Amino acid sequence: MAVGFHITATILMLAFAIVYASDPSPLQDFCVAVPDADASVFVNGKICKDPKLVKPEDFFFPGLNNPRSTSNPLGSNVTLLNVDQIPGLNTLGISLARLDFAPYGLNPPHTHPRATEILVVLEGTLLVGFVTSNPPMNMKNRLFTKVLNPGDVFVFPEGLIHFQFNNGQTNAVAFAGLSSQNPGVITIAKAVFGSDPPISPDVLTKVFQTDKNVIKYLQSQFWWDNNFP
Ligand SMILES: *[C@@H]1O[C@H](CO)[C@@H](O)[C@H](O)[C@H]1NC(C)=O
Repeated sequence: MAVGFHITATILMLAFAIVYASDPSPLQDFCVAVPDADASVFVNGKICKDPKLVKPEDFFFPGLNNPRSTSNPLGSNVTLLNVDQIPGLNTLGISLARLDFAPYGLNPPHTHPRATEILVVLEGTLLVGFVTSNPPMNMKNRLFTKVLNPGDVFVFPEGLIHFQFNNGQTNAVAFAGLSSQNPGVITIAKAVFGSDPPISPDVLTKVFQTDKNVIKYLQSQFWWDNNFP
């Protein structure tokens, strides 16, 4: 009897479970984030500013027309405007990025754990791609790739590893919308080889089927970040 009840309860719970594919929907017009770096409470998102004190500036960010410096070893610069830059984005499930590339500049393989990305190229050409998650046994992870010219749009599905590479001889500029107020970025090589403290070389030697010296060399590199601010 008790077992039957538990099974029924579990089935009912599963049937009514809601899975959110993006940030939760707002429960009011807006919930402008309070800069709460020093707050001792942590909530999912940020706590709301008193609506009576909200100003147009809470929804505003100037100067995204200005090119960003790409003089770093990656030759790229990503300016992400998330809820930390625009507090009015809190609970709204969206953010925006400007991407600048020097010739042959690279935005290295990375994922956004909480957002799908839709990118449009304004200037130059970009070789872009994403790779699917692990398929059934003995099948390969599939690469979806394309060369984009000005006006071309490409989508990078939530959580999948993707990259953008300027394969042309001029600068490239793109803008991207992301379906989260805080998409997050995991840059694969930097996270794996540049973690603090480092992952045991024994682990990485086995993963990459290589010599331990190669792993130690990679772990001793400085892993650049192209994200700004
Ligand atoms: C990105 O550009 C900004 C503004 O030009 C600059 O201050 C910042 O250092 C750049 N970041 C990198 C990683 O080059």
